[in-house]
Amino acid sequence: MGRGDDPPPARRRRPMIAEGIAYGGDYNPEQWPEEVWAEDVRLMREAGVNMVSVNIFAWALLEPREGEYDFSRLDRILALLHEHGIAADLATPTAAPPAWFFRKHPEALPVDKDGRRLSYGSRQTFCPSSPAYREAALRIARALGERYADHPAVVMWHVHNEYGCHNAECYCDVSAEAFRVWLRSRYGDLETLNHAWGTTFWSQWYYDWDEIIPPRATGAVPNPTHQLDWRRFCSDELLALYRAEREVLREAAPSVPATTNFMVMFAFDALDYWRWAPELDVVSNDHYLRSTDPESQIDIALSGDLVRSLAGGPWLLMEHSTGAVNWQPVNRAKTAGELRRNALAHVARGADGIAYFQWRAAKAGAEQWHSAMLPHAGTDSQIWRDVVALGADLKALAQVRGSTSPASVAVVWDWNARWALELPSQPSEAVRYLDMVRAWYEPLWRSGVAVDFVHPTADLSAYRLVLAPALYLVDDPSAANLTGFASAGGTLVVGFHSGAVDASCHVRLGGYPGAFREALGVRTDELFPLLPGESLGLSDGGTASLWSERVHLEGGEAVTSYTSGPLTGVPAVTRHPYGEGVAWYLATHPDPDTLAALLDRIRTEAGVEPVRRTPEGVEAVLRRGEDADYLFLINHGERAAEVHVASRATELLSGRGIDGGRVTVTPGDVVVVRESR
Ligand code: GAL
Repeated sequence: MGRGDDPPPARRRRPMIAEGIAYGGDYNPEQWPEEVWAEDVRLMREAGVNMVSVNIFAWALLEPREGEYDFSRLDRILALLHEHGIAADLATPTAAPPAWFFRKHPEALPVDKDGRRLSYGSRQTFCPSSPAYREAALRIARALGERYADHPAVVMWHVHNEYGCHNAECYCDVSAEAFRVWLRSRYGDLETLNHAWGTTFWSQWYYDWDEIIPPRATGAVPNPTHQLDWRRFCSDELLALYRAEREVLREAAPSVPATTNFMVMFAFDALDYWRWAPELDVVSNDHYLRSTDPESQIDIALSGDLVRSLAGGPWLLMEHSTGAVNWQPVNRAKTAGELRRNALAHVARGADGIAYFQWRAAKAGAEQWHSAMLPHAGTDSQIWRDVVALGADLKALAQVRGSTSPASVAVVWDWNARWALELPSQPSEAVRYLDMVRAWYEPLWRSGVAVDFVHPTADLSAYRLVLAPALYLVDDPSAANLTGFASAGGTLVVGFHSGAVDASCHVRLGGYPGAFREALGVRTDELFPLLPGESLGLSDGGTASLWSERVHLEGGEAVTSYTSGPLTGVPAVTRHPYGEGVAWYLATHPDPDTLAALLDRIRTEAGVEPVRRTPEGVEAVLRRGEDADYLFLINHGERAAEVHVASRATELLSGRGIDGGRVTVTPGDVVVVRESR
């Protein structure tokens, strides 16, 4: 077992088997009478669907009584798909155990933080550490593996569904025991654990392993390291379940690759996907828009860049929606052309497959108001027409499959830092990890710069510029990796409150920002977070919110300082030549324009250029093939835009040649230009 924050292990990848760009969605035919299936496959063909995920929530039908299987329906579904040339991504249905299982094993139902045991009657309501659940899940995974290992329709295993989506944490006694086992492996002895957790504080010293419990509801703030280790444990505990299922499937069907669908964006933050990604043969992700985000194209780009970085190459979009979802307070439909722009934006960021939740809109059940590829209205609908048109677009992009995405900028992303930053009792609870990353990512997106995300221990030698917007927690090797990058000639930019604590969440003494002080040439003796709505003037004419600190220069130079408030005259942004390179510190949160100007200056100095200069509102993304570049141009604006392209180029979606080295992208449109090299 790993320690919960070890660097990610080496990757093992296997190709996804579908031809060209995969296209499809979750297919749940068990929810429909069999007469409907013939229409399903006919319409799938019409839309160009070539791969669907089946069996995701079919456990109760597949195993009506413990150990008694009825595979006849699944046999017929797979045969029908195969007959129509549609590949199956066959799921283990372990995200939704049947009622009989919980009647027999009520102890496998999860317990929440307040000690309340939840009930069955939904999905993903099981304790990740339950031996009974594990046994039942592996039993059905094995039965499926053995039965369908050589089935010609089956091209991939879809293990479980969105691990941890609803049950990332269980606080029951069985979980408590599993937590203790995990802690023993991390710390070896209690003395070490006590020191790591700082348990002399508030009389929390442990004398016996059995005294340690999950961080259940308490009267006052629980111990931060206890909570952080709990998050690490919960991620690892679900990863152990994934691995166990995958091993069973691998044994039965060694040549079939396995995936499970991640959720790298939105509020979900329960799993350390750097530890998960190397365990997947194909990395896949689910992405949904937030109705309240006016610029969801940036969210898609960020998510796509992050998944591609986790995958180390192309990946698969396993779920998104054709229209509205059903789990937000108000569920917005997509505007004209949005479905197409969303899907092609994911392809631009490295997706080699586009799939939706789900194929046919449900009539009954918890998701009856969720959009689908085939809506309630049937084929005489805008969504269906868009779905068919997208199928043609993806077919036209077949040659893009497998191409890579070169970048010279890296943004450091770390779930340990996110968890630690968002623990209670911080200097400011208004500082949120994802907000910080998105704030820094946005200007890079607007200027068309290609970005990778990296783990703090990653090899950084391919990059010119590395940004660490919110690396609150950093261990010593990671800090050395980042500062070493700067001293070797790179440009490092560090956001406020970074480097503050070590891997055990202990404050690094001597001044902030602890681990980066020397490289940044600054030392802060006190933090001055700002109240909601409060802002300070900056000497470059901008404003700052959220955070300030009393920075003293120790080799660094002030680029901007405060012009108002208690820290008037104190540096707010600093620059420090360090070794062969440069290290910048953003000791505050500048307003968006000021931040954009600053990051523009920094990246220009670092020699980083955009993929292509485009008019405002036009997103340009490049994928690099063996003998050609694929330039994706997406016009999110309201004006037609002209973009310069190579003289030997073709537009792939229309198939037209391009004359005169320029292409026009009309508002809301997407063009994909193949530039021969
Ligand atoms: C995902 C889940 C799907 C479906 C979808 C609805 O989280 O994997 O099964 O529920 O959300 O948006």
